[in-house]
Amino acid sequence: QLKKTLGPWSLTALGIGAIIGSGIFVLTGTAAAGENFTVPSIWHAQVLDLIVNVLRHGGTAGVLMHGRPAAGPSIAISFLLVAIACSFAGLCYAELASMIPIAGSAYTYSYATLGEIFAWIIGWDLILEYSVGAATVSIGWSQTLVAFLHGLGIDLPAKLLASPFQSSVMPDGSTVYGIINLPAVIIVVLISILLMTGIRESAGVNNIIVVLKVSVILVFIAIGWSYIHPANLTPLIPPNTTGNFGDFGYSGLLAGAGVIFFAYIGFDAVSTAAQEAKVPKRDMPIGIIGSLLVCTVLFILYTHVLTGMVDYHKLDVAAPLSLALEQIPHRWLTICMNLAVLAGLTSVMLVMLLGQSRVLFSMANDRLLPKAFRDVHPKFRTPWKCNLMLMIFVSCFAAFVPISVVGKMTSIGTLFAFVIVCVGIIIMRKTHPDTPRPFRTPLVPLFPILGIAVNVAMMYGLGWSNWLRLVVWMAIGLVIYFGYSRSRSLVNANK
Ligand code: ALA
Repeated sequence: QLKKTLGPWSLTALGIGAIIGSGIFVLTGTAAAGENFTVPSIWHAQVLDLIVNVLRHGGTAGVLMHGRPAAGPSIAISFLLVAIACSFAGLCYAELASMIPIAGSAYTYSYATLGEIFAWIIGWDLILEYSVGAATVSIGWSQTLVAFLHGLGIDLPAKLLASPFQSSVMPDGSTVYGIINLPAVIIVVLISILLMTGIRESAGVNNIIVVLKVSVILVFIAIGWSYIHPANLTPLIPPNTTGNFGDFGYSGLLAGAGVIFFAYIGFDAVSTAAQEAKVPKRDMPIGIIGSLLVCTVLFILYTHVLTGMVDYHKLDVAAPLSLALEQIPHRWLTICMNLAVLAGLTSVMLVMLLGQSRVLFSMANDRLLPKAFRDVHPKFRTPWKCNLMLMIFVSCFAAFVPISVVGKMTSIGTLFAFVIVCVGIIIMRKTHPDTPRPFRTPLVPLFPILGIAVNVAMMYGLGWSNWLRLVVWMAIGLVIYFGYSRSRSLVNANK
């Protein structure tokens, strides 16, 4: 039995703590700037374009991508769109969380209500959200560290700061490819050690970090506002010069939405605390929608100032915040802000890796994963083997994969989880109509259907390479389920 101690403020703070991270501080830059490839590539084409083109024209010639259109200053509108999309899924999460009398994640809820296979699919999918998500944040952490050290006049060897697929331009104009992203690996290892020894972030520490993160954004908005060059903000929606996404004017805005969706991931963390909420019926929606609302307002103002200060073409950099701050003649400010961002990103990773080990622990308890995932350390009382395996898995992504790839993998995995949760709400209103629901999603089935529609639309915007990754990942999951888990599971044992 968990203590019911969390009120609306703490829940909102919990959500804000999990939301504000690499998405807003790092990925916003590339979303605004877009991407240009000199060589057209099918790898980046949108999945629907591809299918339609093959069906219609018998080939793929028309869908070769030359890049991702830039959102430019309209990235602020992308943030609004994504927030609306997330609210539908958020309300569904709130209902699911409040009706199941156990603490946990979408995995635990589905296991209790929708059955084992459904739960397996969502549990396996959540690995993309939590583990690959933690890798994404660790790369953002590494990029921020590099900017921070650069501000102090320290430059580390570029080869050790990026994956082999990422290059950086040196001051002498030469291009250097990375070998390994060492700082990203180091932070993953450090946080895993913390988790193995049982150190958790207390609510107090979380609140301090939330205040720090929100302050960084507010200070940036307040100081940066007077450095906005109106010319940078017109036109609000830049023309699409990539020739992709159809040539309609909003293409960059939509492509940007797919990228910055990552910035909102984490509000579902509020739902995992449903059992600790004082009045779930009232506090769950306040916590979920409240944290979304606060972050949306902050994100819109922040990106408005960012794209106003710096020409969006120049924003495709590792640390867009530092780039913008170069215009402000207070070097110490950049240093303090980067330090606060580093603390903020660390706490996001802690939440993600802790959430991941909880999900894997539950899956192992249900006998869907090997015993090692639920072995508890005799002294530290933590699932240390699980943390250790996670450390290795997440480090591999952090070391060798570019942030844009892991970011999109996380996004597509999370969007898929949101879709399943929305579908789950509709199914459960039919299969469990009488189970008490302290919080009910309004307008069912309209809201869940809208949730499914907008989340699938965002998945569409992510390009078919990411769909392929999702399909391969889920296929591996099903092979493990049918080859290993199903015969050993508790459900099977109880039959
Ligand atoms: N929303 C979190 C971030 O941007 C995952 O880091």
